[in-house]
Amino acid sequence: MSQFIVAPSILTANFLKLSHELDRLKKAGINWIHYDVMDYNFVPNLSFGPSILKNITDNYDFKIDVHLMVKINNSTIVDYLKPFLQKNVFQITMHYESIENKDVQNFISFCKSNNIKASMAISPDTTVEQIENHLSQLDNVLVMSVYPGFGGQKFIEKSIKKIEKLKRHREENNWAYTIEVDGGINQDTYHLVQKAGIDMIVAGSYLVSDIDEVELRKRVMNLEN
Ligand code: DX5
Ligand code: ZN
Repeated sequence: MSQFIVAPSILTANFLKLSHELDRLKKAGINWIHYDVMDYNFVPNLSFGPSILKNITDNYDFKIDVHLMVKINNSTIVDYLKPFLQKNVFQITMHYESIENKDVQNFISFCKSNNIKASMAISPDTTVEQIENHLSQLDNVLVMSVYPGFGGQKFIEKSIKKIEKLKRHREENNWAYTIEVDGGINQDTYHLVQKAGIDMIVAGSYLVSDIDEVELRKRVMNLEN
């Protein structure tokens, strides 16, 4: 039994073959999907929103981890989040760098009242100290080990220190959040995050790429063990 969750990001999927990709992941034993929403505002890339998410949640029973890389401008945070409230969405992550201070509490309350894990992401240049005030209330902290925006980037090693620090703080204060890492995970880097004590690993291009089913199963098993 794996001690952490492996959540493939479908950002690098071929969208003409999305159901094929999802079937393959299911067959390889995957239970979670990491859903990267990008708005060409917070990050220099555009991905997908609630309607493709609905296609997935209507047709598959994956648990969904929504990662919002967005800057909310012309809407309240609650109105923005509502369309993502779908069956099997278990966790929603907002970025510390994009969420306005006044909205942090609204975000956390929205998630809690809808039985979803409230998660906050920190980009590589944000420190653990910057989110310290929120840690007692969060269900998950996502440590970005690449700059948000694209799959297939190189793992930034200083992220390990942040994972270790978050783990220490959690133990010292009896806090409950889980720790997730996202970006540049492959057969070499996952050892590092595993040793640091991670609870959830996102893997994009390492799992969702042009590999056959045997290789996919092998990679999933590697990550899980
Ligand atoms: C990057 C996204 C990641 C990305 C991971 O901004 O948040 O989830 O898809 O892809 P890899 O694993 O290829 O770095
Ligand atoms: Zn992500």
